[in-house]
Amino acid sequence: MKPPVILAVTGASGAAIGLRAAELLAELGFAIELVVSAAGERTLLEEVGPHALSGIAARRHAVDAVGAAIASGSYPVAGMLVAPCSMRSLAAIAHGLADNLIARAADVQLKERRPLVLVAREAPLNLAHLRSMTAVTKMGGIVLPPVPAFYLKPRSVAEIVDQIARRAVDALKIAPPLAAAWDGGAH
Ligand SMILES: Cc1cc2nc3c(=O)[nH]c(=O)nc-3n(C[C@H](O)[C@H](O)[C@H](O)COP(=O)(O)O)c2cc1C
Repeated sequence: MKPPVILAVTGASGAAIGLRAAELLAELGFAIELVVSAAGERTLLEEVGPHALSGIAARRHAVDAVGAAIASGSYPVAGMLVAPCSMRSLAAIAHGLADNLIARAADVQLKERRPLVLVAREAPLNLAHLRSMTAVTKMGGIVLPPVPAFYLKPRSVAEIVDQIARRAVDALKIAPPLAAAWDGGAH
């Protein structure tokens, strides 16, 4: 059986990306260990609706459950996706502040050299955000801002969300690529 994937949803805008990533991971046959921050619950409610993510995850952990299995490096997981990732959670991960289950599980991915992908969303970016992104990147994490692939000419927000979620899952490198690729164009 495949090891599970940790999916964390934090309080940045873009909750639909977390939901779509969960659907894609489930379609790939990965069990999902889900953690949603308090602010993530709020953005899910505001942006996606009250019952988003219910039924998709194999296990859902409270964000303060720092004794959960995923808080330990001894528990095998394929990787971790934080989608969307707030600047607060990004900063906590960048500085090893493992004070909740999301920051701790991400800390574990970095110390165990496992895939960690952060769909970090804010605009514009201040120096603290940029420094956090640099720190995570230096530690081996991947910062993947939710930027539309305009070259694919998306026709809807749903298509943009789908493409970003696919790129985020692909960045874990735990399955063959899902995202549409540039084909060289017409010229
Ligand atoms: C509707 C809404 C949208 C938000 N969007 C963002 C955002 O895009 N990026 C960000 O860093 N914070 C955003 N925030 C603020 C975070 O939710 C806030 O900093 C929170 O403390 C993050 O906590 P967490 O990292 O535990 O989820 C938003 C808050 C709300 C209510």
